[in-house]
Amino acid sequence: MSASISFRNVTKVTTHVLQQMKLKKEKIPMLTAYDYSFARILDNTGIDVILVGDSASNVMAGYTSTLPITLDHMIYHASSVVRAVRRALVVVDLPFGTYQGNSKEALNSAIRIMKESGADAVKLEGGKEIIESVDRILSAGIPIMGHLGLTPQSIHKFGTYVVRATTEEEAAKLVDDAHLLEKAGCFAVVLEKIPARLGGKVSSELRIPIIGIGAGREVDGQVLVLHDMLGITLEFSPRFLRRYHNLSEEVHGAVSSYISDVKSLDFPNEKEQY
Ligand code: KIV
Repeated sequence: MSASISFRNVTKVTTHVLQQMKLKKEKIPMLTAYDYSFARILDNTGIDVILVGDSASNVMAGYTSTLPITLDHMIYHASSVVRAVRRALVVVDLPFGTYQGNSKEALNSAIRIMKESGADAVKLEGGKEIIESVDRILSAGIPIMGHLGLTPQSIHKFGTYVVRATTEEEAAKLVDDAHLLEKAGCFAVVLEKIPARLGGKVSSELRIPIIGIGAGREVDGQVLVLHDMLGITLEFSPRFLRRYHNLSEEVHGAVSSYISDVKSLDFPNEKEQY
């Protein structure tokens, strides 16, 4: 692709490439990663987008929501991921409290992420209510992925993890917000846990890629939390989650074998010592 950025024989996925994929109706796979080792495995699979999600707050730090994670934590996770990735587009969540209500602070937060981690783009949750922050960040040349529907940073406002935008009023606001984000210049929007029909409607009305998580199959790409789809986290089982592996059980088995080998003096054997 002539407009792509090539470095050491690797064609980097850019926001432009994602736009082309939407035009060609090529679906966009995206997964989260928070550390160097997993990010390296993911990038070698050819995944197009890696999200350093603030779900790190849940799956890496053990909090019950995404609210506690800080900008410094996100920069730590993002820079670990960036060091591993050569091809995928790396998008980083701006954490709760670093962009809502103060567009100057939002820009400073986004600049810190881009400068200190080397990521390619940031993701923000919300529509009209954060549009001033969106405009300011975009005016500095920083690409933004939007996030609408079930936005986990607003979980205390929702009070429940049920499907969003099931009423006409909430669905209409979501569609308006998606158009607003596209008009502002966002390069993509994540739609989380909304009716499939609404996901399809937004995807057909917008020119930018729509990435769904529990938003049906009529969108332009899909995202899942890595630890959920690999079966590392077992306590979370929404209908939209497909588990591709039971890594928790595999790790448990491997560690149990190690424990018994150490105890029985089977490990290390003669070949495993100096
Ligand atoms: O933080 C995250 O992992 C996310 C995805 C669920 C889209 O925002």
